[in-house]
Amino acid sequence: MTQPVVNLNQVGMTFNAGRPNQTVALEDICLTIEPGEFVSLIGPSGCGKSTLLRLVGDLIRPTAGEVQVNGKSAHQARLDQDYGMVFQAPVLFEWRSILNNVMLPLELRGMRRDERRQRAAELIKLVELKGFEHHYPWQLSGGMQQRAAIARALAIQPKLLLMDEPFGALDEMTRERMNLELHKIWRETETTVIFVTHSIAEAVFLSTRIVVMSARPGQLLRQIDVPLTLPRGEHTREETAYFQVETEVREWLRKAKGYETHGVEVSE
Ligand SMILES: Nc1ncnc2c1ncn2[C@@H]1O[C@H](COP(=O)(O)OP(=O)(O)OP(=O)(O)O)[C@@H](O)[C@H]1O
Ligand SMILES: [Mg+2]
Repeated sequence: MTQPVVNLNQVGMTFNAGRPNQTVALEDICLTIEPGEFVSLIGPSGCGKSTLLRLVGDLIRPTAGEVQVNGKSAHQARLDQDYGMVFQAPVLFEWRSILNNVMLPLELRGMRRDERRQRAAELIKLVELKGFEHHYPWQLSGGMQQRAAIARALAIQPKLLLMDEPFGALDEMTRERMNLELHKIWRETETTVIFVTHSIAEAVFLSTRIVVMSARPGQLLRQIDVPLTLPRGEHTREETAYFQVETEVREWLRKAKGYETHGVEVSE
């Protein structure tokens, strides 16, 4: 048996416990992710998707349960630089060129200058930003900046990539192209991805598994395996299975919202 990349055991997250502004964001989350999976989290706004990602990335600590990454605590995994993160808005350093942004994590790892230059150049090519190495972030479009952020996240060859609505701000066509690129990168680097999105189409296209979350307090309502063949491409969106999974996700998302409005427990 291979070791799971992520293992959440009865994880709960309550913000401001005991205070008037207490928020129970997540309750009793049990989730195991195996190496090489591409898992999307989808659910109503405020259901705790970002919180779940931040727990895995050790940006916050759970108030209940345990988060394990590669068989160790999330904290240890972060210290070991086991993952890369990409957020909704690209977080690039404005005063550093694209090349220097991508090289930063390698610099922090103490990699030799010529080596890190070479590695960064490969990644820049992979995200199709060749020719923009010496531009600054503000000289690039939003989508290009996001691709630079993805290249940077991939620089250390993370075993786990955490992505929080990375393409949320892009137009539909750019988004579809980025989906294709990300899919290619995921296949080439054999990394494991946890991907937060509000787009059903994006989730179905990219994922090997989709986790539908209920409204707050977030729980895992339904896990849906995506049986679409790999590699995916333009043809994927025309497969019958694509429409079937899309419909299933949509139905469960409706239930997820009903959960919030009527307080009705949904069971399978
Ligand atoms: N640092 C924090 N302090 C207090 N409450 C927080 C904090 N972070 C998140 N929350 C609360 O936890 C709940 C879940 O928030 P989260 O950001 O995880 O939702 P989300 O599913 O990512 O939503 P969206 O789809 O809108 O991004 C919300 O009610 C939010 O107000
Ligand atoms: Mg969020």
